[in-house]
Amino acid sequence: MPTPPVPLQLATLAVHGPEKRTSVGAPVVFPLVQSVNYLQQVGTEAGLLYPRYGNAPNAERVQATMAALEGTEAALLLSSGQGATACALLALLRPGDHLLSSEWIYGGTRQLFLEQFPAMGIEVTLVDPTESRVWRQQLRRETRAIFVESPVNPTTRVLDLRQLRVLASENGFALVVDSTFASPVNFRPVEHGADVVIHSATKFLNGHHDVLAGVVAGSAAYIEEVRQKMILWGQAPDPFAAWLLERGIKTLDVRVRRHNENALRLARWCESHPAVERVLYPGLESHPDHEVARNTLNGFGGMMALVLRGGGEAAERFVSQLTVIAHAPSLGGVDSLASEPRFSSHARLSPEERAAAGIPDGFVRISVGIEDVADLISDVQGALR
Ligand SMILES: Cc1ncc(COP(=O)(O)O)c(C=O)c1O
Repeated sequence: MPTPPVPLQLATLAVHGPEKRTSVGAPVVFPLVQSVNYLQQVGTEAGLLYPRYGNAPNAERVQATMAALEGTEAALLLSSGQGATACALLALLRPGDHLLSSEWIYGGTRQLFLEQFPAMGIEVTLVDPTESRVWRQQLRRETRAIFVESPVNPTTRVLDLRQLRVLASENGFALVVDSTFASPVNFRPVEHGADVVIHSATKFLNGHHDVLAGVVAGSAAYIEEVRQKMILWGQAPDPFAAWLLERGIKTLDVRVRRHNENALRLARWCESHPAVERVLYPGLESHPDHEVARNTLNGFGGMMALVLRGGGEAAERFVSQLTVIAHAPSLGGVDSLASEPRFSSHARLSPEERAAAGIPDGFVRISVGIEDVADLISDVQGALR
C-alpha cells in the first residue's frame, strides 16, 4: 500500500488513528476485544496483556489516537476524567510537594486538591488565574506543578498560558492543563507550552453521553509514571468503553465544528433578550477573554452560560420549561443539556463562594449540542417567555 503523505490532518487522524491498516481482509472498524485475559508466552513476563495495565487492544488504539491529536509522545486512557486528574497529579507530586492551581476548576478537581491531597502531605494553593503577579508570589521551593483548566467550567473563561509557560519552564516544573471544554479540535495545549494535557473523555471526545473515561497526554516517560498510578489505584477503563470512545473520536472534528457554530448563534441570540442579564460565551465580543480566545483557540466551543434576571427562581423556571434542551448535568455530547452548577458541579461551594467565582444564582450552563440551531433558539425563546 502506498505511504500516505505526512503529517495527516487532525480530522483524518481522528477517523483513522495513526496506524495504517495494510493487510487485505483487515476489518475497517477495529473490533471490540472484550477479553480480560490473553495467552501469555512461556518463560517471560514480556508481552503480558491485561486491561488494568492499559495495554489491551482497544485502549491502545485510543491512546495512540489521542497522542496524535494532542501532539504528544504518548497518552493514557483511564476510567474517568476524575481518575485522569488524580493519576496525572499523583505521578508528579510526592509528600512534601506543593501544587499551584488556578481556583477556577471543576468542583471534583477542587475537592481532590483541597480534601485528598493535604491528607497525603501535598499542599495546594489556589490562585485567581487572572492575577498574574500572584502566581509568582505563591511559588515555593517545593512547587512541582501548575494546574489550570481552560476554558473554565462553567464560566467559559479562557486563560492565557503564556505567563504560566514561562513560570513553569524557568522553574523546571510541569504545566498541566485540563482541556476538557476545548477538545483538541479547538485547542491543543502542548502547542502553547503545556507539558501535560488532561481530558474528561466523557465529554466532547466521546460526545454521545454514553461513556465515562479520561485521558492524560504527555511525554512517554511521564505517561509511564501515570500508568503505574493507574494500575495500582485501579483506574483503568473497560474495553467496551475504549471501543465506544474510539467510535466517538472518529466524528470529533465535525461534531465540535457544529457545537462551535450552534453555540455562537445561540449565544448571539440570547444577548439581546431582556430576561437575560448576561451571556457568557468566548465568541462574543462582550466576553472578558474574547481577545485571548480569538488569539489562541481554533473555535470558541460548545459551552455557554446565561445569567438570568430573577436569580435562582428564574433559572429553575427556565430549565423546567425547556423541551428540546434536556435538564441534565455533564456536557459535550450531541444532545443539548442545561444545568445549574449550584445543584451539580459546584454544589459544595457556598452561594458566596460561587458568586465570587462568577456563578451567581440564576446562572444556567448550556452545553450546546448538534441539533438544528433554529430548534434550540425557539426552545430557549419559549422557556424565557
Ligand atoms: C473540566 C472537567 N474536568 C474533569 C471532569 C471530571 O470528569 P469525569 O466526570 O469524566 O470523571 C469534569 C466533569 O464534569 C470536568 O467538567
